[in-house]
Amino acid sequence: MTDLSWPVRTERLSIRPATADDADATWAYRRLESVAHWMTSWPQDRQEYAERFADPDRLAKTLVIEQDGRIIGDLMLAPEDPWAQTEVRDRAAGVQAEIGWCLDPAYAGRGLATEAVAALLDVCFDGLGLRRVLANCFADNGASRRLMERLGMRQEVHTVRESLHRSGEWLDAMSYALLADEWRDRRP
Ligand SMILES: CC(C)(COP(=O)(O)OP(=O)(O)OC[C@H]1O[C@@H](n2cnc3c(N)ncnc32)[C@H](O)[C@@H]1OP(=O)(O)O)[C@@H](O)C(=O)NCCC(=O)NCCS
Repeated sequence: MTDLSWPVRTERLSIRPATADDADATWAYRRLESVAHWMTSWPQDRQEYAERFADPDRLAKTLVIEQDGRIIGDLMLAPEDPWAQTEVRDRAAGVQAEIGWCLDPAYAGRGLATEAVAALLDVCFDGLGLRRVLANCFADNGASRRLMERLGMRQEVHTVRESLHRSGEWLDAMSYALLADEWRDRRP
């Protein structure tokens, strides 16, 4: 990501790699239960959150979304190796990425997350030259699924009561994906 030119601008937004100084701005919405409900973690302690946010491995995968200079959300871009047979594994190294998103609810319902994720897909496919992008979610995370479907991502996996939610319930999960050529044909 460091080789790309930042920030990436869209009609309403500006997207750039996160820095440790962005911890407080993201804590403001990530600590909310409504935001954390479907997320991997529900941070409870500001200091602990700031330390985890500043972890170099995490920072390297985190982007922030700004509108008029204010952070309104964040994105994950985590390159990974797809499964490949041993003899061709080197050709598969780093050719896909898992992506993720989180929006301050004060800015929800205006298409801003969709706009940011569309820009993220441009970064993945045009900027980084990836061949496939995927995203995982709980099956009940309707807002996230609608976002992916709006952008043409395809639901490829539906697991049954496979993921443990912090409520104690085992819930269905889904995985969506999109290939580079599909994005070129479908991008808004
Ligand atoms: C997932 C999440 C980013 C979706 O946020 P969102 O506000 O629904 O998404 P957008 O900003 O793209 O807005 C889309 C909504 O605004 C509406 N909208 C209004 N104007 C719009 C426009 N110009 N363009 C697109 N959509 C628009 C859409 O109809 C849509 O509403 P709908 O889903 O009820 O049909 C948000 O719910 C979130 O951050 N949740 C908590 C974290 C989370 O769950 N992350 C994902 C874990 S897998």
